[in-house]
Amino acid sequence: MSDKNIVKMDDIVSLAKRRGFIFQASEIYGGLAGFWDYGPLGVELANKLKAEWWKAVVTESDNVFGVDGAIIQNPKLWEASGHVAGFTDPMVEDTKNGKRYRADHLAGVDSTDLNELAELLKDKVSPDGNPLSKPRVFNMMMKTWIGPVEDDSAVAYLRPETAGSIFTNYENVRETMRAKLPFGVAQIGKAFRNEISPRDFIFRVRELEQMEMQYFIKESDENSTYESWRNFAWDFLTERLGISKDNLQWHEHEENERAHYAKAAHDIYFRFPQGFKELWGTHNRGDYDLSNHQRVSGKDLTYFEQASGERYLPHVIESSVGVGRIILAVLVDAYHEEEINGETRVVLKLKPELAPYKFAVSPLLKNKPELVEKAREVYRMLKKKHGNVMWDDNGNIGKRYRRQDEIGTPYCVVIDFDSLENNDVTIRDRDTTEQKRVKISEL
Ligand code: GLY
Repeated sequence: MSDKNIVKMDDIVSLAKRRGFIFQASEIYGGLAGFWDYGPLGVELANKLKAEWWKAVVTESDNVFGVDGAIIQNPKLWEASGHVAGFTDPMVEDTKNGKRYRADHLAGVDSTDLNELAELLKDKVSPDGNPLSKPRVFNMMMKTWIGPVEDDSAVAYLRPETAGSIFTNYENVRETMRAKLPFGVAQIGKAFRNEISPRDFIFRVRELEQMEMQYFIKESDENSTYESWRNFAWDFLTERLGISKDNLQWHEHEENERAHYAKAAHDIYFRFPQGFKELWGTHNRGDYDLSNHQRVSGKDLTYFEQASGERYLPHVIESSVGVGRIILAVLVDAYHEEEINGETRVVLKLKPELAPYKFAVSPLLKNKPELVEKAREVYRMLKKKHGNVMWDDNGNIGKRYRRQDEIGTPYCVVIDFDSLENNDVTIRDRDTTEQKRVKISEL
């Protein structure tokens, strides 16, 4: 294990770019702050993470169902959810660390007048002693207009969280799946936030992908359900993804940290290069969402519990995590620099199930047709069995190993002249760098 302190964001950003995990969006035009594109390896890693989450939350469960809602919904949804009103405070930002503050609170006045606030704050610094940005009214939702006329009646929003269309489909899912409480609804999809200062690579972005699950319950079950979804998040990260417990810690939200919909919130923090920061949130949203949607839509969203004859509004426990944040956590956790035979190698010790490629197959020499032919045979066989196999005949074997170490490929298979005689190959283990000879039929 390397010293975790040596993992720097620059090393991760550079590896991600160099090896095709993550590129700046619109890079040839100078990029666009807060937007990132996933390259060939990044999309493989993301797909594996998402599939693992979906399997754990939906497929292996008896009572969690999936949906895939539209990114743009009727704007009334975001009025009911509190997002239209909830993000329109006058804000200032600490220009060094990006922490945001209510401008009126810092100025100590009850005012939303931006000129007055700017005047009052012009000689002030943030609570951390850094210069402040100019105050501005800020709503984090990205706006667009539907149809040809860009007036107020055509305004719509790109969703700020996927949870919204889970609440508006609560009744559809309950009815079509004949679901009884408790049950959950899960969704993976894009969400958008107009962050004042996107930063820390893919940590704070303006376009993100969320994996969210809302569990609908009777209020009396809120504590036990909240605990079990907290445990779920911890177990998923440590057991399914193999993230080191040393890099994780719990953080309970104080009242002033909680989102407007949450009555309790626990984050799992991960040791990112910029420090321990939030990775996965479990929230008790109470009946905040369904009661507001019921009120604004006028539709009855109460639940009739046959056993007791009671009718009530379900409460909600939410589990919410960003795909990009998990990718960053997985990359940071897996990143190691090691001395091997006097040389430093970079190796991603990813769980084999997450590695973009499980095997790399190479002929020892690429200009020997008989080796290439045999290697192709092995490549095709492994690809049929495992799918994610890379053909790699670039440079010498040492270079190929370095390249595969950097992208976390657990096994490198090399076909040499003995392979032609004995139908065997060398297989090299990424973590130990040990090589063994194995029969092709036993691979
Ligand atoms: N739904 C929780 C969040 O978007 O942070």
